[in-house]
Amino acid sequence: MTVPVITIDGPSGTGKGTLANSLASMLRWHLLDSGALYRIVAVGAESRGITRDNLTDLTAFVRSMEVSFSTEFPGSIVLEGQEISDIVRLEESGNKASLVAVIPEVREALLQRQRAFRRLPGLVADGRDMGTVVFPDSPMKFFLTASAQVRAQRRYKQLINKGVSVNLRGLLLDIQTRDERDSTRAVAPLLPADDAIIMDTDAMNAAQVLAEASNRIRAVLGLDITHTISGNDNLPG
Ligand code: C5P
Repeated sequence: MTVPVITIDGPSGTGKGTLANSLASMLRWHLLDSGALYRIVAVGAESRGITRDNLTDLTAFVRSMEVSFSTEFPGSIVLEGQEISDIVRLEESGNKASLVAVIPEVREALLQRQRAFRRLPGLVADGRDMGTVVFPDSPMKFFLTASAQVRAQRRYKQLINKGVSVNLRGLLLDIQTRDERDSTRAVAPLLPADDAIIMDTDAMNAAQVLAEASNRIRAVLGLDITHTISGNDNLPG
């Protein structure tokens, strides 16, 4: 039996992580946060003194690293027994991730690991190349976009609410640099799949994005997410 996959790609700050989390929790499907894997590679390699030009050690590390995403403590990431979620979520770890993500050998070494997340009853996969490279056979692909200004504003609010002091201009520059690197790399650049539904989330909030995606999922996969919502007592508020 083919395990269904919903892919959600796009740059950071478009709301794809929020959408992926909501859909996975409402459908009670597995969730693949592929960006976290690239972040873990960057953080883990750096702390082991493995540089990006040392391809032998880098790919050996990517193939052998033991990572677990806790289901008991959502958001927790453990690499070889060490809790690393705080460092993985840092803005600078995202930038470092995009530097290792240009290396074809790293992408290749992560491919099977990502595909192994495809288990029954289904998978929601969030990233940059989920619909194009990792799960090209997915029948339901979303590609979320938003202007760099709106994405920087969203990230700014998120960080300020967490008590992190940031500079909006610096965030915008980081976003533009990362977009440029992700979109122009030779292997698996950030691009919508030909059969992806493109959603511009500039003027949308999380609930509107979820409602629009739910309508598409109902039409294409025949899954009624609103029914799942009303029947699920454990949804976050
Ligand atoms: O989504 P997130 O911001 O955590 O991703 C960090 C970086 O990892 C991205 O900027 C991108 O360079 C890389 N990435 C990727 N392919 C994916 C997911 C993330 O190249 N499927």
